Amino acid sequence: MTTAIIGGTGLNQLPGFTSLQEYTQDTPWGAPSHPVQRGKLGECEAYFLARHGVPHRLPPHLINYRANLWALRELGVTQVVAVNAVGGISAPMGPGVLSVPDQLIDYTWGRQHTFYDGGELDLKHIEFTQPYSSNVRDSLLQAALDAGVECRAGGVYAATQGPRLETAAEIKRLAQDGCDVVGMTGMPEAALAAELELDYAALCIVVNWGAGLNAQPITEAAIHDILQQQGVNVSGWLQQFLQRQ
Ligand code: HPA
Repeated sequence: MTTAIIGGTGLNQLPGFTSLQEYTQDTPWGAPSHPVQRGKLGECEAYFLARHGVPHRLPPHLINYRANLWALRELGVTQVVAVNAVGGISAPMGPGVLSVPDQLIDYTWGRQHTFYDGGELDLKHIEFTQPYSSNVRDSLLQAALDAGVECRAGGVYAATQGPRLETAAEIKRLAQDGCDVVGMTGMPEAALAAELELDYAALCIVVNWGAGLNAQPITEAAIHDILQQQGVNVSGWLQQFLQRQ
């Protein structure tokens, strides 16, 4: 099992991760967001990729998700844990909550969302009934217990286009659709991973209430504070996850 962690907003650098080697390879789909790092988290080796680049420069709709996943597979990665900062929608998903969703709904548009676009690869209509790997999810949930980190198992991730946040009516609609959390980077990443037969799961950090669910405005400072607080917990959790592999 070779694991990659894709770090999202606020996790361009994973606390405790020491880089041993950097890979600057290109892919047939262009360059990844940033050179992939091979390094150590505790005693365990893993690859790490900063989804938005370093410094954080790529908005969600301009990330080259295809290049990112392709580069990881070229390095021999077989499973991916994708870390995502999200807004909370359903009652338990308040700021600070960590969650491992088990479903998603894709509301994004106009992104390069498949490797089967008339190029060299023979078209496959991949199965996507369960968008996240149950093995990776189960292992994450077990690792959370080992690490003493509280997290919510399950829930529906809504992938929105961004880069703006939602309107109150949009969040109401997402709630009616059954969504529990909302983020901008979960798709097409999960589907592209599935096309490459990578085991993939998302680890979500709730950083704000969805628009209109709270009297307080959503501020970058408050989001930053939560990411700062949870960075170390997430890192400890991922360390336990890697130890289980
Ligand atoms: N909406 C969409 N994406 C997000 C949010 C949100 O409220 N918070 C963090 N990423």
